Amino acid sequence: MASDPAPVPQQSQTRSLKTGETDGQKGQLAIRARGVTVGFGDRVILNGLDLDVKRGEVLGFVGGSGTGKSVLTRTILGLIQKRAGKIEVFDEDLDTLTRDQHRALERRWGVLFQQGALFSGLSVLQNIQVPMREYLHLSHKLMDELAMLKIEMVGLKTDAADKMPSELSGGMIKRVALARALALDPELLFLDEPTSGLDPIGAADFDDLIATLQKTLGLTVFMVTHDLDSLYSICDRIAALAGGKVAAEGTIQEMLESEQPWVRSYFHGKRASRMNGGA
Ligand SMILES: Nc1ncnc2c1ncn2[C@@H]1O[C@H](COP(=O)(O)OP(=O)(O)O)[C@@H](O)[C@H]1O
Ligand SMILES: [Mg+2]
Repeated sequence: MASDPAPVPQQSQTRSLKTGETDGQKGQLAIRARGVTVGFGDRVILNGLDLDVKRGEVLGFVGGSGTGKSVLTRTILGLIQKRAGKIEVFDEDLDTLTRDQHRALERRWGVLFQQGALFSGLSVLQNIQVPMREYLHLSHKLMDELAMLKIEMVGLKTDAADKMPSELSGGMIKRVALARALALDPELLFLDEPTSGLDPIGAADFDDLIATLQKTLGLTVFMVTHDLDSLYSICDRIAALAGGKVAAEGTIQEMLESEQPWVRSYFHGKRASRMNGGA
């Protein structure tokens, strides 16, 4: 077995941008973070964090409020500088990429930010086209067609296209933001608290949508969430941030059995008891 050539990874774009090499060991991880340290002034937020996100999985990233979940997300995206450590996305070490290589990588991910507000002066259609304008050179007609496709993909009616953000409900705004995150047909989706602010039914609908898209498009999803329902319903694995590190990770079952204090109180606390009782 050891002498057999490694199977070709399903997504064969794992070829290095720099060297053109492929490597049998590679191709398994969408994100690999090692020793990531991030701070602001004398406050250290992430302190030697290690994290793996496997290709094709939905990883739920949990942790107390203000512990650095959004900071990690933004650091992976290259929007915040780290002080130490290494982050690889699709086997590319982000620190070694040229600007063009980084842009090429950016086209392979989509982001729904926690403050995922749409551009208020742009219509739904125009909002979805923002990444297309930034990264692609397409005709107006083609961009309109692509944006309409995304609108339908996220379960909105096509007449939403010409609406302005102020005319939309909270749930619709999230869907448009998701459509925008999908604008470039990414392989990797970052979702920062995607269901926050939605009522339970709206949140469950949005979870279903994410699950369906993840399966049909074969996405890898890195999802920051506080929502226990989301963790139970769509996450393959969970990583918990505490003390600036991933303090526990595993399946929901493994999290339920974890002795890590924050994980224990989160999964066995008051909010969780309803779900554990039903599980
Ligand atoms: N650009 C910044 N400058 C200074 N402090 C920041 C910055 N971004 C985040 N922080 C601080 O880092 C900590 C973690 O923030 P954040 O990642 O947003 O938390 P959460 O886990 O709730 O997403 C918070 O104390 C926040 O105030
Ligand atoms: Mg946050």
